[in-house]
Amino acid sequence: MFSFFKSHQEESLNSGRVMALMNQKGGVGKTTMAFNLAHAYAHEGKKVLCIDMDPQANFSSLFQIPKSDDRKNIHHLLINSIKELKALHTPTFINDVLIKSSEGIDLIPSGQELSGFELTVAGINAPRQLILKKFIEKYELRSQYDVIIIDGPPTLGLLVVNILCAADGVLYPFVPDRFSEQGLKNILQVVSDIEEMEITSTPKNLGYIPNLFDTRRKQAATDLEQIKVTLGEATMHEAFTNKVQFGKSLAQGKSVFQYKSSEYKDLQRQFVAMAQAVQQELNS
Ligand SMILES: Nc1ncnc2c1ncn2[C@@H]1O[C@H](COP(=O)(O)OP(=O)(O)OP(=O)(O)O)[C@@H](O)[C@H]1O
Ligand SMILES: [Mg+2]
Repeated sequence: MFSFFKSHQEESLNSGRVMALMNQKGGVGKTTMAFNLAHAYAHEGKKVLCIDMDPQANFSSLFQIPKSDDRKNIHHLLINSIKELKALHTPTFINDVLIKSSEGIDLIPSGQELSGFELTVAGINAPRQLILKKFIEKYELRSQYDVIIIDGPPTLGLLVVNILCAADGVLYPFVPDRFSEQGLKNILQVVSDIEEMEITSTPKNLGYIPNLFDTRRKQAATDLEQIKVTLGEATMHEAFTNKVQFGKSLAQGKSVFQYKSSEYKDLQRQFVAMAQAVQQELNS
């Protein structure tokens, strides 16, 4: 069928790629993976922008931001980018919100207000699914960053649709047990609904990330094999086991790359390999 929109490949040639970490299920490692991948890219000298699209704001809390009650966040930026709503809200510009870190990683934080996003935009005439995509275009963020990493919420709704419409590709972390399949199927269904709507190109599947893989549980390997069969062709990245290093590092707002000790070496290797595979897939 004739398509009015440019493919992501055409659109983003010579410009930053947008990837998102998604799964409707909570606690599967979306934020942990997003944060460490951001550092893996920064480690390679890439300029990275992180966008927290989860009202829980866990991603934002990993960045050592001084506390402030009136800090503006992604919600205010998105609302301000909609012409019909702009006049009703206090003007907010990207420089009021963007947090710059010394490691070459910038952050657009989230906040509780984002949980009201769906209601706030309910009555607008502009396409509600494309607000984040248009925001990224408006501020020409692709030309300022090599990689843009979006952390998604554990829900299915307008926020998720906006992320999927804005991303060039999606990574799906999951815990390989028998409950995980449905969560993955649900989010993949939203991707295919977007494809059918034909309002924008659909994001590439950048692969699944088995996380908190329990090597001691025999059934875990069988479950993972079965899930692989169900999920079909997309890449299955190397599984992450339960690692105390994640708890330790995240509690200090640090990535695995900020440690020199040998117990972090394997995790560093794993994130570098995944970052490279994802980059290759996004460029292909
Ligand atoms: N491989 C791992 N080993 C040990 N702890 C882990 C591992 N992966 C994630 N965790 C821990 O599990 C918890 C949940 O991880 P995380 O917040 O990344 O999940 P999430 O999918 O983003 O959750 P939510 O859907 O609520 O946003 C965190 O405390 C994190 O430190
Ligand atoms: Mg999270």
